[in-house]
Amino acid sequence: MNIAPLILDDRARGVFRVHRSTMTSEDMLALERERIFSRAWLYVGHESELAEPGAYRRRSVGGRPLVFVRGADSVIRVLHNTCPHRGAIVCRQDAGVAKTFQCFYHAWTFDNRGQLVGVPDEAAYAPGFDRSERSLQPVARHDSYRGFHFVCFDRDAGALGDYLAGAREILDLVVDQSLDGRMQVVSGEQRYSIRANWKLLAENSIDGYHAAPVHRTYLAYLQGTGAMRPGETVVTGRARALGNGHAVIEYRAPWGRPVARWAPTFGEVARGEIEAIRAELRSRYGDERAERIADWNRNLLIFPNLVVNDIMAVTLRTFSPIGAAEMDVTAWEIAPGEESGERLARRLHSFLEFLGPGGFATPDDVEALDSCQIGFAADGVEWSDISRGMAREPRPDDELQMRSFWREWHARMTGTRRSDWSDGRFAA
Ligand code: FES
Ligand SMILES: [Fe+2]
Repeated sequence: MNIAPLILDDRARGVFRVHRSTMTSEDMLALERERIFSRAWLYVGHESELAEPGAYRRRSVGGRPLVFVRGADSVIRVLHNTCPHRGAIVCRQDAGVAKTFQCFYHAWTFDNRGQLVGVPDEAAYAPGFDRSERSLQPVARHDSYRGFHFVCFDRDAGALGDYLAGAREILDLVVDQSLDGRMQVVSGEQRYSIRANWKLLAENSIDGYHAAPVHRTYLAYLQGTGAMRPGETVVTGRARALGNGHAVIEYRAPWGRPVARWAPTFGEVARGEIEAIRAELRSRYGDERAERIADWNRNLLIFPNLVVNDIMAVTLRTFSPIGAAEMDVTAWEIAPGEESGERLARRLHSFLEFLGPGGFATPDDVEALDSCQIGFAADGVEWSDISRGMAREPRPDDELQMRSFWREWHARMTGTRRSDWSDGRFAA
């Protein structure tokens, strides 16, 4: 398959187009599994999900079943969830705390570090049967940044820190809103699927252009609360390419932020508490950084499939293709580690209200993505246009952030290297 001509990137003319076969072809997806999902660093889970020795979460990352587990020695590991005997899934619960995992097929037993510790009728094997060669296998690479754990199935990939590039600074802003310097995943997760190509959600998660038309019910609701004046814009800010296909939009918006920006939707009773946190952030970080943490929204995409939306609450979202035209999505709410009680309840409300599966935003976004995929089947138009803002300082409602994603996608799919993901003329 010749990938090179599937993206038109003409910086001189300000034109960027993506061929729609990139989003409809099963052959393309097979190649993406090989060249992207088997080689890039992929998010697996957050350290707060494994609070005690033996705590585990079953995960599927890049199409591979995994176990994310804290061993009795307190070390966090990521193991392939397949029995070294004849293949069955060993961990069959989504979450829990376990000293051991027993494969249900022939009852081989592994401890929570992955070591094989029990084999029924072991005497049936030849002398020299080595349990250590039949343990659950760790993934090729595993590392973390400020509590966020990632895996990579390519032994030769570069270090996680280098991979994250400029995204580290944005993750720092997210984590530093915790006065304890640590975030927690709030218990529970949202799972849904969308009948659309996975890359459409990468685009949508950092797309400021669609906010006004698609989320007009939410904006009308904000106007009703007095948080927003009619005609007010939500797109004051900027877009940046962060390297390696990661990108962020940063902007001020009329909704509140549970940590340090009060808005009417939180209720009058929350005002004093939120302002106290703001004052603490200011004394710790100075006015400028405190304001960036407290007042600015961030939609961050870490290539290829992790989104951190630090907006009216902080949402962590990953998505995986299950076909060229379908994906699974998992979303979590994360909060400062010290947050509890009323504060946490306000945050959860804010999260569910906008980004929950029945909230103001998600059903509308899902509809938009479904609609694009159906539109691709209409045929007659070969290319999608992602040129907006190519000849000006990039704004959140422009499309630089998507071009950055597609430039990395193209480099990986064609086996070339890139050192610049911006539009060139306006290095962001
Ligand atoms: S496949 Fe797991 S014990 Fe046989
Ligand atoms: Fe949206």
